[in-house]
Amino acid sequence: MTIANAPEPVAESSTDAAPTPQTQPTPAPTEWWRSAVIYQIYPRSFADSNGDGIGDLPGITDRLPHLAALGVDAIWLSPFYTSPQKDAGYDVADYCNVDPLFGTLDDFDQLQSKAHELGLRVIVDIVPNHSSDAHAWFQAALASAEGSPERGRYIFRDGKGENGEIAPNNWESVFGGPAWTRITNEDGTPGQWYLHLFDTSQPDLDWTNPWVREQFRDILRFWLDRGVDGFRVDVAHGMIKAAGLPDFTPKPGGSMGGSGSSVEGVSLEPGISDHEDEPTAPFWAQDGVHEIYRDWHEVLAEYEGDRVLCAEAWVEPLTKLARWVRPDEMHQAFNFTYLETPWSAQALRRVIDESISAFASVGAPSTWVLSNHDVVRHASRLALTAENPQGAGIGPKSPGLPDAELGLQRARAASALMLGLPGSAYVYQGEELGLPEVIHLPDEARQDPTWFRTNGERYGRDGCRVPIPWDADAPAYGFSPSGESWLPQPADWAPFAREAQIGVEGSTLELYREALALRHDHDLGFGSVTWMTGLGEAVVAFTNGAITVVANTGSVAIELPAGEILLASGDISGSILPGDTTVWLATAAH
Ligand code: GLC
Repeated sequence: MTIANAPEPVAESSTDAAPTPQTQPTPAPTEWWRSAVIYQIYPRSFADSNGDGIGDLPGITDRLPHLAALGVDAIWLSPFYTSPQKDAGYDVADYCNVDPLFGTLDDFDQLQSKAHELGLRVIVDIVPNHSSDAHAWFQAALASAEGSPERGRYIFRDGKGENGEIAPNNWESVFGGPAWTRITNEDGTPGQWYLHLFDTSQPDLDWTNPWVREQFRDILRFWLDRGVDGFRVDVAHGMIKAAGLPDFTPKPGGSMGGSGSSVEGVSLEPGISDHEDEPTAPFWAQDGVHEIYRDWHEVLAEYEGDRVLCAEAWVEPLTKLARWVRPDEMHQAFNFTYLETPWSAQALRRVIDESISAFASVGAPSTWVLSNHDVVRHASRLALTAENPQGAGIGPKSPGLPDAELGLQRARAASALMLGLPGSAYVYQGEELGLPEVIHLPDEARQDPTWFRTNGERYGRDGCRVPIPWDADAPAYGFSPSGESWLPQPADWAPFAREAQIGVEGSTLELYREALALRHDHDLGFGSVTWMTGLGEAVVAFTNGAITVVANTGSVAIELPAGEILLASGDISGSILPGDTTVWLATAAH
């Protein structure tokens, strides 16, 4: 079977109301995002230029040449906006300014122009579901009367019970605990409750309010005017809540508080159904979100060039996620179903097939992703031996902790498999160094609100956010000139440092660099998947144009098909492919 990453006639309506089939035009060669490899920078952990232990924009600018040398096409910056940093910047107090921790707007402009000079596109994060409680809008809402326009920008409700002492409904926060907080009025009496799907410091905005929509159009234009190439849209499945905010009890095995449910090894965002026709939680994946993205699509279309919207939408199944990327909505959506697929050939073949066909049905490219700042790094995750729900993290007391060597071997094999696929791929800073999750962080160092809101029951996401190593011998491994680091770096990270891997045959960095160069030279992003069978149940093998990718997910070595080996994720001797290893072969001529 051959599945191509090329736009096909759109089978699905581009609006919810009028099911008129449309045809997606053949992509202009400038639609860079269809095949791009996008590198996620988590600013506080990338490079610190001023020695305060927190990464910053000038630090990023200095190191951009490394990313150009790696061969990625674009960078996505997690939030660097004005913020009290209660959720590492995903609590925004001013959407149009830079937090002094990270620099200034001038620093952003310099970063962007250097990136563009190096041929790297720049995508910024936008956080529309909620603001920080320190945002002037929320402060005005608190200072204004019930029922005022200021309160109407957020989701304030009266409590239930005789004195309004019971939360308006039973929803739980993704980070644990209730999703509602009661305010105290200026005269000291208890007041209304406000909704926060995440931390108490992240009040949800009311997207049924046209005023909110207008503000965000302006915010998009602010950054588009500065020249950004697009936006990664945070919680793009959460902005509209079901009318009446009905109670919701997740199905057994799942939890609204974030422990998720599991279907065939895939852990799901709480309350997200894996079946099209099953109801999802009243705060996720509501149909009303699509109108917002059609509106945003038009804002981006006002600008020259190919500006993009990438959805962070934890939505399953893939056929439903595809609605986020219909031709008049977003351009890309993170493929979290792929990220959560276990290291099993059967599961991988299935998710690859389903991804390409679901996205192609709306004319969009599939995306692929293995790690980000919210999940256990794949160099550890792929060797876990116990269930680990998304967001829970791992720490010293977690069951089924990974074997580090096996994890790295699988991660390298998984990355080599991913980078051979058609479509667009995301790489999270540090995965190109083979970084594992940091498991042994001291409790007192942890900062993720998940850790606090669950009283340490869930470790949360700090373990994947530890500042990355640049230079084996420098203080803080070259992350910071002072040796400071906002999360402590492990003592054994010297071998992962970038300088220690540059030009070293067999290093993870060189594996990524070679894979990206081959991917680029052979235009794999615009290619197709033709399955190759007969190599055994544990093998994922396909041809994508001039490259044949063979990944052995099992532990038993197999005989490779004939062909010159162009890339190998591990040691190969002769034509034997060991377990947990991927090779790229030159496709045999027919
Ligand atoms: C997204 C971000 C995550 C953040 C949450 C709330 O899932 O990726 O880091 O905590 O939204 O903004």
